[in-house]
Amino acid sequence: MTEKKIVLAAENISFSYKSKDENLQILKNLNLEVKTGEKIAIIGASGTGKSTLLHILAGLDTPEEGKITLCGENFVLSNKKQHNLRAKLRNKYMGFVYQFHHLLAEFSALENVSLPLLIRGVNNNEAQKKAAECLERVGLKDRMQHKPAELSGGERQRAAIARALVGKPACLLADEPTGNLDTENSASVFALMSQLVVEENSALIMVTHDVQLAKKNDRCLRLEQGKLLDAGI
Ligand SMILES: Nc1ncnc2c1ncn2[C@@H]1O[C@H](COP(=O)(O)OP(=O)(O)OP(=O)(O)O)[C@@H](O)[C@H]1O
Ligand SMILES: [Mg+2]
Repeated sequence: MTEKKIVLAAENISFSYKSKDENLQILKNLNLEVKTGEKIAIIGASGTGKSTLLHILAGLDTPEEGKITLCGENFVLSNKKQHNLRAKLRNKYMGFVYQFHHLLAEFSALENVSLPLLIRGVNNNEAQKKAAECLERVGLKDRMQHKPAELSGGERQRAAIARALVGKPACLLADEPTGNLDTENSASVFALMSQLVVEENSALIMVTHDVQLAKKNDRCLRLEQGKLLDAGI
């Protein structure tokens, strides 16, 4: 059996949204460690900060305090030059499924899914071939040339999942990836993400409101008062 390695480690993470007359503390000294082959579900009431946490883990927001390591590399970086490095690390190691799909409106599903590979320097033919395979796996073989506005809500979400999976990331973060899907599609999307975890020895962190789905993961955590606790489900 291969030794389990730490894919993503977050230590003592604190974060608040600050405005002129408000300091809204969302995360307080939060810790999380995810290993290769591990699937973690995060649940919690609306507004507790699940999306904020995933954005911080993905390096899309910067914590006020704390340290994040992605595949052994420091991932909390502050100055502009380091932001570019963070984007590179994200592209190399991470797949992200947003709560709201974030597909680029001007591009077809095929182009959207090809993009992470093009950014990595893969040539266009190869990128499109892999993107097409991925879209087929999420059941969008006949919708590849559609732009996001020409896809249904669930189809957009599946295209976003294909985009996150196409680069076979070491760490997949998914924010309510099945929120817009019916039970059948939701099960097949979870199966696809699980398959990536097994085949590539990746790690999955998913936020979900669906307790049954959460239970299919190795660990279920609840975000409450800025910290992650065992969800006890
Ligand atoms: N840019 C922002 N500025 C100020 N407050 C924000 C900002 N974004 C989110 N918030 C607040 O931070 C809290 C956490 O938001 P977040 O989106 O992380 O919650 P969530 O747990 O993902 O909720 P849901 O389950 O509804 O998706 C919310 O109360 C929200 O109003
Ligand atoms: Mg959210």
